[in-house]
Amino acid sequence: MDLTLTATLKPLRDWLLREHSGTVCPDRLRVIADELAALSARGLPGAVVELGTFCGAMALWVRSVLDALDEQDREIHVYDSFQGMPAPSAEDSDHLAPGELRSSPDDVRSTHATWGRPAPVIHQGWFDESLPSKLPDAIAFAYLDGDFYGSTLTGLTHCVPRLLPGGVLLVDDYADTAVNPKAWDGLPGVKRACDTYFGTASPMTVVVGEGDLALGRYEKPGSAE
Ligand SMILES: C[S@@+](CC[C@H](N)C(=O)[O-])C[C@H]1O[C@@H](n2cnc3c(N)ncnc32)[C@H](O)[C@@H]1O
Repeated sequence: MDLTLTATLKPLRDWLLREHSGTVCPDRLRVIADELAALSARGLPGAVVELGTFCGAMALWVRSVLDALDEQDREIHVYDSFQGMPAPSAEDSDHLAPGELRSSPDDVRSTHATWGRPAPVIHQGWFDESLPSKLPDAIAFAYLDGDFYGSTLTGLTHCVPRLLPGGVLLVDDYADTAVNPKAWDGLPGVKRACDTYFGTASPMTVVVGEGDLALGRYEKPGSAE
């Protein structure tokens, strides 16, 4: 079943695609809904985390999908500087400037309130300051959407060790154009950070969508049972 087209989720999907088209697209919504449905079906415990939450559009989607799966008790933790992007490194493009994509915790709360959903646990601060002490010990699903090399590398460093066996980490803007020539390649630092973290025999796989989706997937080895 395509969860995104169910009666409960379709109106939200349409609203997100209309109001938050900068960060949300049909491919992302479908892929993330499928991952959440899969982990729910397997009974995998653990929290969901999102690194880089901006106005909370994807966090709202995650909450709503989990609620539709009768997973109201599964915690969602989101992390953002709420000062926008840091400075890019030499590994990054100039697609985003420092301070761009600035939002506030109230934006995240308001996005959720619009749809009557409880807000996630919000952690304000730069990833290298918040993640070491504020990540849950057991993570079932992580969505890394920090756009830059340093932000992605920091996210991997702290999330992968806390990912449960069978847990999944999706990295947005991971563009491997050798595998998926359609992938949007505007933030090359993201894949470079994954290559740095995982090394040459990278376990990351490429998720292909209908459009120009650029998404990498890592599944922690080991049994979820
Ligand atoms: C593309 S937006 C996230 C969009 C969101 N995931 C969604 O789909 O609705 C990227 C966010 O990452 C945050 N960010 C990037 N690098 C960061 C860092 N090192 N520490 C904290 N926040 C960071 C920015 O402030 C920005 O809000």
